[in-house]
Amino acid sequence: MPAERTRVAIVGAGPAGLLLSHLLEAAGIDSIVLDRRSREEIETTIRAGILEQGTVEILDSVPGSRARTVGHRHDGIELRFAGEGHRIDFSALVGRSVWLYPQHEVLKDLIAARLAAGQDLRFGATVDRVEGAETNTPRVIGMSSDGEPLEIAADFVVGADGSRSAVRNSVMGTRAGAFREYPFAWFGILCEAPPSSAELIYSNSPNGFALISQRSETVQRMYFQCDPDADANAPSEAELWETLQARVPGTALIEGPIFQRDVLRFRSFVAHELRRGRTALVGDAAHTVPPTGAKGMNLAVADVILLSRALQALLLEDDERGIDAYAEAALRRIWKAQHFSWWMTSMLHAAPDAGDFDRLRQLGELRSVVDSEAGRTYLAEAYTGWPLQTEL
Ligand code: DHB
Repeated sequence: MPAERTRVAIVGAGPAGLLLSHLLEAAGIDSIVLDRRSREEIETTIRAGILEQGTVEILDSVPGSRARTVGHRHDGIELRFAGEGHRIDFSALVGRSVWLYPQHEVLKDLIAARLAAGQDLRFGATVDRVEGAETNTPRVIGMSSDGEPLEIAADFVVGADGSRSAVRNSVMGTRAGAFREYPFAWFGILCEAPPSSAELIYSNSPNGFALISQRSETVQRMYFQCDPDADANAPSEAELWETLQARVPGTALIEGPIFQRDVLRFRSFVAHELRRGRTALVGDAAHTVPPTGAKGMNLAVADVILLSRALQALLLEDDERGIDAYAEAALRRIWKAQHFSWWMTSMLHAAPDAGDFDRLRQLGELRSVVDSEAGRTYLAEAYTGWPLQTEL
């Protein structure tokens, strides 16, 4: 069976893969995007909700993107500890904002835009492996949605296929990264209620962390720190509200029916190799961050902007300098975001083995952030997103 042919084979139709196909098309480079999931699964899986300003600006180039119209601009967040709230005023500190617009809505916009543009986008297609990564014609091998063997030959293969990336496992190896685990997870809920607070609240309390986030005028997203082995179905709704409320003293949470609950495990991971020959990784395939600080999807977007520049130079001008610089350039931002996510996590959560010293030191750390304009500015800069590098 002869292999199909495309210029860039993109494995994964998440934010990274879809955005990359859009940026490549704008430069006249065709691609095929494959995902093992169904369109419905992709469009309904609940993920994070915060877009950096630079992410919204790049999404502005996607026809029909609703990030600005349906999403909400947030000009700050609140850090709460020791019974007091402290606003981090992004606009005043760095003149930038973030947008609250759920990732699955970003995905609906991207999928609709790609299909309208005639993108070859295949759901239910499984990728087993990549062959010939170090040749000029790498091939993606797998199975189509109707169970037929699939083989796509390309000029370049991109692994945008998430934290259990088949592309990474087959090209770079299965244990190829630096990682760290955490002794806690987040219990997340979605409920039918209006917002309890105008802005997000990140709360460090003696009982552990809680995050009061939002989704819309009628649906709210909240999280609290829990044991990684917690059973999402075990607590009653009354117990969930009691736990949440105890962790945000000073704010009366508006309760409503809880219609979704999940336990999110935390992991920090960075692959040692982001590129080998004519294969590269972007997004969660290359790195995962703990959710505190909402860097995951934004970091994927930053990778994709760099890689799209590099691929344009490689495939249109035969210029390899950009692709040779990709990993190092991407890793600079990745490690800054890793640090920020680890820092927000460690500053706000109660470690199970924390003693008095650790707890009081943590409050000292939080005070040194909120009492200092430099401290608040660092947080605001990182949260709203460092400038995106577009040139390699
Ligand atoms: C959300 C998730 C985050 O990890 C975060 O830091 C802020 C908001 C959310 O899902 O709304």
